[in-house]
Amino acid sequence: MEKREELYKGKAKSVYTTDDPDRLILYFRNDTSAFDGKKTAQLDRKGMVNNKFNAYIMQKLEEAGIPTQMDQLLSDQESLVKRLDMVPVECVVRNISAGSICRRLGVQEGLDLNPPTFEFFLKNDDLGDPMINEYHIESFGWAKAEHIEVMKELTFKVNDVLKALFAEAGLLLVDYKLEFGIYKGQVVLGDEFTPDGCRLWDKDTREKLDKDRFRQGLGGVVEAYEAVGQRLGINFD
Ligand code: C5P
Repeated sequence: MEKREELYKGKAKSVYTTDDPDRLILYFRNDTSAFDGKKTAQLDRKGMVNNKFNAYIMQKLEEAGIPTQMDQLLSDQESLVKRLDMVPVECVVRNISAGSICRRLGVQEGLDLNPPTFEFFLKNDDLGDPMINEYHIESFGWAKAEHIEVMKELTFKVNDVLKALFAEAGLLLVDYKLEFGIYKGQVVLGDEFTPDGCRLWDKDTREKLDKDRFRQGLGGVVEAYEAVGQRLGINFD
């Protein structure tokens, strides 16, 4: 597989074309950012930890019947993935209140949400990723109605699979964000699943083991990601 030009540079990953028009390479950089890019840093080992973390989770999701873009790990910081036509929408499920929902609705952090709640956000940094609903997605042509339904179904299926997986490791899956794309007419999970895009708390102490450590300046960011991975049995060597 030959790596060609950089197609897109996100805040933490770069995407490269390859000699196969149906495949891209995701390069997980050591960069991290928060607050729509207003706070940034370089964190040693983060690219490697997130690349391996993502590959492990995507494999678990595939095994549970969720189609993902993951093809194979290529190196410490690179993965080969299917080239999706990305839907510019973020799907968020929340099992416990934290983050933006607390600010928006004036609720306290740490409330169990029964049933888990679901939100769509438009992927647009300039607008601060505004919350949208299904009508917006369909009216503006960001995705078709039948694809929106599948995105919701798959996002909740991911919740069933990953809540159980993290629970076995003594962790609470508080919330997470997923992005989907279309591949050969099918809705497929894209982007990544790492502690950059979810909240994970220790079940007993409720210690934060995710990107909130960076957002809130708690330190030990990559150490926490790695500790979570190790609790899942991921080998980072
Ligand atoms: O900020 P908020 O509370 O809405 O985030 C909900 C979840 O989605 C968190 O786990 C956060 O890390 C993730 N998220 C993300 N990328 C964004 C917005 C939120 O990964 N642009």
